Amino acid sequence: MSIYLGIETSCDDTGIAILKDNNIICEKLLSQEDIHAIFGGVVPEIASRNHLESMPILFMEALKESSLAPEDIDVVCVARGPGLMGSLLVGLGFAKGLCLSLDRPLVGVNHLHAHILACLIESKIEFPALGLLISGGHTQIYRVHDPIKFELLGKTLDDAVGEAFDKTAKLLNLPYPGGKYIDTLANLASPDPKMFPLPYIDNDNLDFSFSGLKTAVLNFLNNHPQIRLKKMPTKLDIEQIKDIAPMLCKVCSSFNHSVAKTLVIKFERALKKIKGVKSLLIAGGVAANSIIRNYFLDLGNKYSLPVYFPDKRFCTDNGVMIANAGKILYENGYIHPIDIDAIPRGKPIPFDYLKVKKQ
Ligand code: KG4
Ligand code: ZN
Repeated sequence: MSIYLGIETSCDDTGIAILKDNNIICEKLLSQEDIHAIFGGVVPEIASRNHLESMPILFMEALKESSLAPEDIDVVCVARGPGLMGSLLVGLGFAKGLCLSLDRPLVGVNHLHAHILACLIESKIEFPALGLLISGGHTQIYRVHDPIKFELLGKTLDDAVGEAFDKTAKLLNLPYPGGKYIDTLANLASPDPKMFPLPYIDNDNLDFSFSGLKTAVLNFLNNHPQIRLKKMPTKLDIEQIKDIAPMLCKVCSSFNHSVAKTLVIKFERALKKIKGVKSLLIAGGVAANSIIRNYFLDLGNKYSLPVYFPDKRFCTDNGVMIANAGKILYENGYIHPIDIDAIPRGKPIPFDYLKVKKQ
């Protein structure tokens, strides 16, 4: 029986979790959403300063709630990238300090793999699997040979899918991060499949490009300026919007349809190329989207394959997914030397573990 600490600070969420083997003992998450909302996006320096303030407080609260002492932690797992450099350094610095003072192993976790592995938190999954990561920073298709071995098959060439949601929301004058508001409003209208294109599908590759869709929304709104909200509300009154802005709901629904259909088309293309896939794993913040979930459930039915999504609270960044991925690595004998580096967004994450004998 081992106790794993998970630390997540790659963007604007400070996450701490404690796992006792497969059981979640405690999970703590402090979102900085409201702080960054007024800027319409994450301000890196503000994000790292807030992590620095929150991290020790959340850690002490987590220990108290779990009736544990620092010495009870057996393994320290931390997101080492990709992410905002300043934010990652806060989590990694905290993790290294703990490892040095407690003499415990450190496991640096690939944040992207951790998103996909979040599908395993509450489900037993058969491998090989095909994975789709749809988050605020990434859109990627992976062949997941097993929980350790990931092979990248396709990625976005420009905006990540979450970025497309958030930028579209901004055009509509919806608050940041807008994905969840688009999701809510989209469910209040039926989509017009002709309103927006399915971007970058007329090719035979597995990459994505969402910038054209964003431009299509912009052009549509320039031709119909009355659709966007006059002023960005701090809180959305959904019932009121449904009545006063039905076209806004229609735009959200049509945009959400275009994104979901595009994701399914490319993912199905990957599925046809890869033999022997036993499970479909859909993860990342955008995997919380209700319409995208339904489209992928339909795809699973079509191929008689099980589709797994993390619970919605494990779709967006959180400490549990880091503890979970770190636990899997540790159980397979992978740990890091104390001098591991944080890896910023855009750089590949090296597989630079020390292989130790399985405990
Ligand atoms: O995975 P995540 O927390 O951050 C990264 O690691 O990048 O994902 C955040 C993204 C944001 O773009 C947010 O708008 C989007 O996930 N998101 C959603 C929904 N909930 C969160 N997008 C569409 N529908 C949702 N329900
Ligand atoms: Zn993430």
